[in-house]
Amino acid sequence: MNRLRSLFLHAGLFLLGICVSRTVSGAELQLVPYPNSVQLFPGSCALTDESAVYLDLQGHERTLFLRWLGTSPLKLGRCTDTPERAVVKLLLSDSESELDPEAYVLRISHDEGIRIEASAGAGLFYGLQTLMQLTEQYGRDRLPCLAIEDAPYLRHRGLMIDVSRHYFPKEFLFRQLDVMAHYKLNRFHWHLVDGAGWRIEIRHYPQLTQQAAWRTDESIVAWEDHGLKYATAQTPGAYGGYYTQEEVREVVAYAAERYITVIPEIEMPGHSEEVLAVFPELSCTDAGDRPVDLCIGNPATLVFLENVLNEVLELFPSPYIHIGGDEAAKTAWEHCDRCRKRMEEEELASVEELQSWLIRQMERFLHAHGRRLVGWDEIMQGGLSPDATVMSWRGPQYGLQAAATGHDAILSPIQYCYFNFYQDAPETHVLSWAGYTPLKKVYDFNPIPDTLSVKARGHMLGLQANLWTEYIPTEQQAESMLWPRGLAIAETGWTRPEEKSYARFRACASEAASRLRHRGLHPFDLEREVGERVEYGDTLRHLASGCPVRYLQSYTEEYPAGGDTALTDGLQGGWSYEDGRWQGFIGNDMDVVIDLGAEQPVREIGANFIQDRFGWFWLPCRVEISVSSDNEHFTPLTVVENDLPFVRTGFHLRRFGWEGTAEARYIRYVARYDAANPKKGFLFTDEIVVR
Ligand code: ACM
Ligand code: ZN
Repeated sequence: MNRLRSLFLHAGLFLLGICVSRTVSGAELQLVPYPNSVQLFPGSCALTDESAVYLDLQGHERTLFLRWLGTSPLKLGRCTDTPERAVVKLLLSDSESELDPEAYVLRISHDEGIRIEASAGAGLFYGLQTLMQLTEQYGRDRLPCLAIEDAPYLRHRGLMIDVSRHYFPKEFLFRQLDVMAHYKLNRFHWHLVDGAGWRIEIRHYPQLTQQAAWRTDESIVAWEDHGLKYATAQTPGAYGGYYTQEEVREVVAYAAERYITVIPEIEMPGHSEEVLAVFPELSCTDAGDRPVDLCIGNPATLVFLENVLNEVLELFPSPYIHIGGDEAAKTAWEHCDRCRKRMEEEELASVEELQSWLIRQMERFLHAHGRRLVGWDEIMQGGLSPDATVMSWRGPQYGLQAAATGHDAILSPIQYCYFNFYQDAPETHVLSWAGYTPLKKVYDFNPIPDTLSVKARGHMLGLQANLWTEYIPTEQQAESMLWPRGLAIAETGWTRPEEKSYARFRACASEAASRLRHRGLHPFDLEREVGERVEYGDTLRHLASGCPVRYLQSYTEEYPAGGDTALTDGLQGGWSYEDGRWQGFIGNDMDVVIDLGAEQPVREIGANFIQDRFGWFWLPCRVEISVSSDNEHFTPLTVVENDLPFVRTGFHLRRFGWEGTAEARYIRYVARYDAANPKKGFLFTDEIVVR
């Protein structure tokens, strides 16, 4: 960095020679991610179609760079061999090793034109992205004189797209890669295979795409309702698709031209229903009708995985290969003769260690081919492979723990980085997965807490957003979930925390979204954002405020909200069941008695519940409210039946209550779940309001 700093000083002095320096306030430049150091100077510089370019790159990289430049909206003139003749000079600094390859210095001056210096092509590319954003804001003929010194905060700034649950053609991916590059995102994690469809051609196993790349229904809900059957391309009404190896190469090359590494994910040993439908012999003995986990005891499983990975390694030059590792059911392994034998032979004490054993085999295989393994954070269970990188999704804590113990980690925690969740009030938003992750929440995520040791910081590779597409059937919807939230990931990954500002970012993101819209993409319209549930910000006062609550059946430890006081603390839930306001009851009724302290007249008793089929929580099937003066003899006030079908999709918030006149000291509120239907055993409520 020292070298870059001296380049920057040189830039500043150079410009000072012709104009007076002033430091800009953050609001002036609409740049995302915001650069780490900016100086603005009086005057402007113009670019034209004739502006010649000098590019200090050689060989294949030069060819690729020029190809990208030729198609970029910058529309510059010819390439010249003499820097003196060029208006845009893209220069490699001499001492490459000292500089971050993505760092750059951009100088714009009236007399000297545009000069970008970096230690590698990536930095030149990012300098040009900044220049392009300036042309978007100011036009090509009024570029402000300035000096920008910039370098990424984190190395991995990623986006994952799940193409198994819904298939998106390569042209869609090209568009997203263009946007990623423009905002300096540099890793595309391609979730290629999962239970809903195998989407990469494997020449050794053509059956995978012949038999498991299509399914009977496009909608996952309809597919579930119809028994989760796979189909072939010829099946009438079938939905699906896959990428040929040629198409995979195209995507990898397109990304590489934009300095984006494509990390493929071949999911194992869980989420493997589609593989097991094609090769049932790879499932455990007695694994049931629809096995989900590969049998780790079967040597054929390892042969299969290595054969698949051999082709994957040929297609993807990425140093990292993602092997999944999340959410294996693990139950079939306990009863499988082969898995038990493997556990005995390898002295594995648990099914977690059995999974860990498989991951270690994969790591060895990848190492033998010069690659490294990444997996979801469950790969930590049963012992983490020595060199594995942890992708932390169940919360930041797993990644932080991995980093603290000397492992590399990438953070993509569900609370902040899952783009399949609602980004706005559910009633105004396209049907999405239960959860609420608006732009600000994504932006405010701090992947590197101050408490992390310096050594552990070195292991934090970066962050990533994940787009799971169960309920995202169209390209338009996928784009609206990705953008502009992806820009928040870009800025958090690139801009140092002390340079971040949500107010500035939001204005830039809004502008960026309208530019994307002009280019034919479908970003979410921030101008129409409704925001959090209004009641979430209010504290309610009512007759039961602060009154003690006796639980006749307990709430779940997973979702305690405010604990024993949650139902009378005045705090109401928002759009997310996990915002710490909604108290959960799992597998039992909610049955509570509130003590008002003294007998008194009551006119109204009610509580809100939420339902979201995708989040697996439902309204109670019935609510019973009764009152008492002695806490022994209760007089029923009402029984409210639920009439909302539990299969209804979408987020629903309903009040179950009573209005009338009564005298009460004790109020019993019972919300029943449908015991005949275990699926309906999740209830969430936030406050029992008594007036
Ligand atoms: C995951 O969301 N199961 C990685
Ligand atoms: Zn088995």
